[in-house]
Amino acid sequence: MAGRNADALRAAAEELDSPEHVRAHPAPLDDTAALRDLTEIARVLVHCAGPFSQTGEPVAAAAVEAGCHYIDHAVESHHVKHLFDAYQEPAQRTGTIMIPGLSFYGGLGDLLAAAVADGLSDIDRVIVAYAVSGWRMTTGAKNTAAQLFAETERITFSDGVHHVGFVEPRNSVFAFPPPLGPRTMIAPFPSCEIVTIPRHVPARDVDLLLTAKTFEEEQVFNSEDVDAATRAQTDFTVAVQAIARPDSAAGQVTGHDLWRAGALASVEAAVRLAAGDGPAKSGVLSAAEAFPAEPFLRTLERLGAFTVHLQTPTR
Ligand SMILES: NC(=O)c1ccc[n+]([C@@H]2O[C@H](COP(=O)([O-])OP(=O)(O)OC[C@H]3O[C@@H](n4cnc5c(N)ncnc54)[C@H](OP(=O)(O)O)[C@@H]3O)[C@@H](O)[C@H]2O)c1
Repeated sequence: MAGRNADALRAAAEELDSPEHVRAHPAPLDDTAALRDLTEIARVLVHCAGPFSQTGEPVAAAAVEAGCHYIDHAVESHHVKHLFDAYQEPAQRTGTIMIPGLSFYGGLGDLLAAAVADGLSDIDRVIVAYAVSGWRMTTGAKNTAAQLFAETERITFSDGVHHVGFVEPRNSVFAFPPPLGPRTMIAPFPSCEIVTIPRHVPARDVDLLLTAKTFEEEQVFNSEDVDAATRAQTDFTVAVQAIARPDSAAGQVTGHDLWRAGALASVEAAVRLAAGDGPAKSGVLSAAEAFPAEPFLRTLERLGAFTVHLQTPTR
């Protein structure tokens, strides 16, 4: 366990069942020597200390230099795009596998889009729609959300290319499978699979949506100090539609506790990388480029992260 506060690390280690198996390693982000020590000791690093637009670069740079595999929980699309743009060559050179955005937002959309689009060709549009209720954001999540709300330069994907520029937020309607049904959505929802999905799904357009109601719930911004059991009480559905000719396809994951689902995803990836059970090639990869999408989702389902429903292509 690493972080900037040694006392907090020790306290967190004591809370675990087997504190004797935990080594606390204080490593503030501006201490390059401590980050270098950390990335030389660790085989895989899961970076959880966002907002990643502020904290991502020093950890990513140290990991690549030491050849320590790197996973993060970023939602931020600019940070993820930056890692793909700037770290692909160094990561390949040092044999490092980097998987940014492997969490609930970002990673699940990327994996589900790959699983749904598998076998489809001529895909007009991929839509990733999140329905989230009961979200009680942590300090880190609030800080990240504040940055994303303030962002004027959004990354979008249409007509087969990425665009960066101002996009007026709007409401749209997405029809989730029952029992949710049609919901008013925020569009576009600025999450990092806008960067990753086009890397492996040959779609002309990618749209990301989040239920408008998520941010209208009273407790979402004012309950950062709730206990873990209360924080776990989220309900979520992540639905993906791939609209293609002649066949379209859809799928969704449904569950409770989005924090746990995101943590299971990044830890499952880290365990595989540590065991040498990762992708054959190094470099910066999306979740679905690193692991076969449907089997990875099924593993998370067996671990209790959510239930997976994949509909076979329909005309
Ligand atoms: N993609 C997803 O679905 C997903 C899911 C969960 C979380 N996240 C992201 O993960 C990040 C953390 O979320 P969280 O729920 O874990 O938040 P949290 O409970 O508030 O924890 C944030 C942690 O980051 C540390 N930190 C923040 N800035 C730092 C800095 N400059 N240097 C060193 N440490 C720093 C904090 O350390 P101190 O204790 O010392 O302040 C704290 O331990 C957020 O960016 C959030 O958006 C994404």
